[in-house]
Order: sequence, then structure tokens, then C-alpha cells
Amino acid sequence: MFEALKPQVPDQILQLIQMYKDDLRAAKIDLGVGVYKDATGLTPVMRAVKAAQKLLWETEVTKTYTGLAGEPAFNLAAARMILGDSVPVDRVASASTPGGTGAIRQALELIKLASPEATVWLSNPTWPNHPSIIKYLGMKMAEYRYFDAETRGIDFHGLITDLGRVAPGDVVLLHGCCHNPTGANLNAVEWAAVADVLEARGAIPFIDLAYQGFGDGLEEDAAATRMIAARFPQVLIAASCSKNFGIYRERTGILIALSDVKQRATVQGNLAFLNRQNFSFPPDHGARLVTMILEDDALRADWKAELEEVRLNMLSLRHSLADALRDATGSDRYGFIAQHRGMFSRLGLTPEQVVTLRVEHGIYMVGDSRINIAGLNAHTVPILAAAIATVAG
Ligand code: LMR
Repeated sequence: MFEALKPQVPDQILQLIQMYKDDLRAAKIDLGVGVYKDATGLTPVMRAVKAAQKLLWETEVTKTYTGLAGEPAFNLAAARMILGDSVPVDRVASASTPGGTGAIRQALELIKLASPEATVWLSNPTWPNHPSIIKYLGMKMAEYRYFDAETRGIDFHGLITDLGRVAPGDVVLLHGCCHNPTGANLNAVEWAAVADVLEARGAIPFIDLAYQGFGDGLEEDAAATRMIAARFPQVLIAASCSKNFGIYRERTGILIALSDVKQRATVQGNLAFLNRQNFSFPPDHGARLVTMILEDDALRADWKAELEEVRLNMLSLRHSLADALRDATGSDRYGFIAQHRGMFSRLGLTPEQVVTLRVEHGIYMVGDSRINIAGLNAHTVPILAAAIATVAG
């Protein structure tokens, strides 16, 4: 049977991890996969996570199964962090998932179950795993314009025009904050205009919220999601705790499905069913740590403070890089880096320039010229700026 298998094209982001490891140069710089790193290049375990782990080790008495849709306390705490008080709890169905990718996969499975003919609309560009999973599931997909390659900002006219073509019942995937891969984000007025068009078209919003707390702040980054949640009768939200709790390998995510109060129990039952079909019980360790942190005043305050340090560090790296590029190129054309938010910025370099940066300068970024800002530090910012100025002018 295995003779029938065709080789798979490796994931372009994850492939960079290995290429970087295999590079023997000491001065190499990794701006690839979206993982936070401190100035020493370490992805630290957050203080509150360490404290919660210790407490858990001391107090945990069983590792028996938890709920099929995850531990209810986690689902409640995570939903509160994401939704605030934007919707009444009796509209919220939720399931704990293996990371944000697991939440996206389960959301797509739910769409397929409920509305197999629906088209899922994706921003152009988007995280490459979005179209990959949709294609794998054999679902229909379409693209809406999002990024203006000239300004490296939003192509707002293209976005609104394309969303105007969405059919009733279609699903529109939106990045709740910190757009991946571009770093260009809608402001509140633009979000409201997007909601107007989606409402007029009878579309179902599906929000990917993987970077809450990495853009403008924990509450600020959830504002668009909360606005959509309050306005639309049916909404899907796939959220990740990988980044904002720094627990990447624990695989902690949540899928939230908002519906009419009358449909909630059925939606909840379907979420549990889908978990059972795919992996039975979701991973619990990371979810338990997140719950302990969110439910404890001192741990929560410390986690929020460290998350804010992480956010401000990335913001300051953005400003340093924009300044260094102004000095290195004698122009303001990379000023957009300071306007972008989150971990990523798409620089707008050609694929050839990206290869030259890797081969000649040991600088690793995704082929579409997405950089992970957190891969930089005070020492490497001017090195990157000089290399970009040499390669791209
Ligand atoms: C990224 O975009 O780099 C992250 O979301 C990691 C991943 O799984 O691709």
C-alpha cells in the first residue's frame, strides 16, 4: 500500500528550522518560524508557567481522562480571556484542542459537517497551513485581497470589494490580530466596515486568534473578535495559547463556536463528537497550567506583566529595525515595519533576494520575505539592515 504514497512537499516554515540547524556559520540569524525569543535567542518558559507547573506537580493526584471537549474550567477561563463579556455564556460552545492548528482543523471539520458546500474565504496572503488543511479536507476555498504589496499596508478597497462577493452561508477566515504573514492589521474603523459587509452578505466569520497579547495588548488584541462575537449570530473562533503563554509544545488551543442559545447544546455535542473522532481527549497539561494562571490573581498578574514585556520588546525591535533600515538605505521605505504589529512583517523582497540573504548572509526568513521580529536583538538589527540594504537597496 505504501507504494502508492507520493512524497509530500515539506511545510515551508517548518523546513527552515532544519535548514537553520544545518548551517554551520556562527553568525547566522533565524527569522523563520513564529516562536518568541529573548535577546539571548532562548524561548523562555514564562515565570507564571514555571510556578503553575511546580504547583501542579505538588497537588495533582490523578491523570485520568478529563472531558471530551476538554476540562470545562479551561474552556471557561480561555473563553473569558478571548471574549471578555461580549457575549452571554449560553451562546458559547467550546472545545479544547491540540494547539491553535487543532482548533482550526476542528473548526473546518465542523463547517464540513454543518455546511459541506460552503466556501471558506482566506486572506491573500494567509498562514500557509490554512489553505493546506482546507485542501486536504476537500473543501471549497476562495481568496480575498488583503495586502498591498506597494505600501505593505492593507489593500482596503480590494478587501471590501472581494468580501462583497461572498455568498450567504460562506465562511470568512479573518486574523483577529497580528496578521500572519504580513503584520499589517485592520484598525477599528476598518474592522467595523468588514463586519458591515459580512453582515450584509450573510457570511459566517471565522477568526484565527493565535497572537492575542503580541500586538497592541491582551485586551486590545481581542477587541475585533469581541465586536464580531457580539454582532453575528454564528461565529467560529480558533485560538492558541502557544504564543501568549509560551507553551508551544504542550499543544493548547480552543475552538469556540457561538450560536443561538437554542442551538448551543447541539453545537457543543458536535464539538465533543469531532474531538472523539480525531483524537478522543485533547491534551490537558498546558490547558491545566493556563487555567491555574488565569484563575489565580497573583499568577495572572505576573503572566500579564511578562507578556507585556514580550510585546514591548518586539515593538522596540520593530522601531530599531525601521530606524536601522532608514540609516542603511537612506530612505523611509521600510517605515511600515514600525507600523506593523505582532511577530511578523512581510518585507516585500523577491524570492531571489530571500535566497541571497540566506546563502550569502546566513539570514533565514520565509520565502515570501516574512520575518519573525522576535528573532532579532540589539546586535543583529544593524546586521540585518545592512544585509537588506546590500541585497535589495
Ligand atoms: C508560524 O507561522 O511560524 C507559526 O504559526 C508556526 C507554524 O506552525 O507555522
